[in-house]
Amino acid sequence: LFAAVAMAPRDPILGLNEQFNADPNPSKVNLGVGVYYDDNGKLPLLACVAAAEAQMQAAPKPRGYLPIDGIAAYDSAVQGLVFGADSEVLKAKRVATVQALGGTGGLKIGADFLKRLNPGATVLISDPSWENHRALFTNAGFPVETYPYYDAANRGIHFDGMLGALNAAAAGTVVVLHACCHNPTGYDLTPAQWAQVVEVVKAKGLVAFLDMAYQGFGEGIAEDGAVIQQFLAAGLDFFVSTSFSKSFSLYGERVGALSVVCASAEEATKVLSQLKIVIRTNYSNPPTHGAQVVATVLSTPALRAQWEEELAGMRVRIKQMREALVAELKAAGITDDLSYVIRQKGMFSYSGLSAEQMQRLRTEFGVYGVDSGRICVAALNSKNLKPVAAAIAAVKRG
Ligand code: LMR
Repeated sequence: LFAAVAMAPRDPILGLNEQFNADPNPSKVNLGVGVYYDDNGKLPLLACVAAAEAQMQAAPKPRGYLPIDGIAAYDSAVQGLVFGADSEVLKAKRVATVQALGGTGGLKIGADFLKRLNPGATVLISDPSWENHRALFTNAGFPVETYPYYDAANRGIHFDGMLGALNAAAAGTVVVLHACCHNPTGYDLTPAQWAQVVEVVKAKGLVAFLDMAYQGFGEGIAEDGAVIQQFLAAGLDFFVSTSFSKSFSLYGERVGALSVVCASAEEATKVLSQLKIVIRTNYSNPPTHGAQVVATVLSTPALRAQWEEELAGMRVRIKQMREALVAELKAAGITDDLSYVIRQKGMFSYSGLSAEQMQRLRTEFGVYGVDSGRICVAALNSKNLKPVAAAIAAVKRG
């Protein structure tokens, strides 16, 4: 039965974890996957999460099936966070939100729903984008093409190219946009650039799908979510996937969401009914624990304040690591202008290193990053910084 099954390639990001775990090098450093580690190299358990779990343990509940769309209090907490608690669109009940298995789960539910809605559509992702965007939308049955994004020569965004591609796209084309902390480049659009994107999306009848996996890691929760307000103000229908993997350090709980902004409450009710079919026929209904934790934190003022503080702590430490990396690279003799490392936002730095250089980093120095040149700055710490910088400097020297 399986004789003809071909060996699939490793996942470009999670496959690196497998390689990293198998590497006996005692000084190996994992800058591959987008995971935040503290300055001791440990995955944090946020205090707000521990407090919510203690609260939940004090009043344990039986574990029945959740509704197909998840915990109602969780879905509304997500809506408050993403759209603003006083948002008109929420008052008008124009948003359908479902709990999902991480941000990836939100993308997948949205992709499957879109395929039913508009089977002939093309999906546009940024060039480059998170590796799984292409795979996920391809597997959902869409042709996936790209719009220009990264401008290697100027270490920034090829904005004219991006706008040009969006302008040239057929009506109904699904455009996947990174709401903040672009993965992998770390370069985000300015509010003025977003305004132009929103205008084109509206004028050309495109379908925006915002992937918001890193809210709070760029400039702040509100700042990173500001683009949502621009799409709302334009009166557009659009999709937003949310992830709490990073912002709550709840990676293994697979806690995320999909929100679909519709033109009316009636439409939102119908869309929700379709999303529920997608969920039911994939995994029936979501798990309880992670969403219960997030709902508890977001709806308890003291815990929410603590979360915002802890998230700010992660954000600030990442920025410090960016500065420190630049200083160490300079100390290691690199004379290039490295200010882009500081300008980039979120967990990643798009280093500009080639796949070959990234492979050398791995095999010669035990420093694991993605072949695209992406390194996770959120995994740097005061101990691994010097050896990592020395390794990067060595491969840059050739
Ligand atoms: C990443 O880009 O490293 C993260 O989003 C983790 C993942 O699922 O790939």
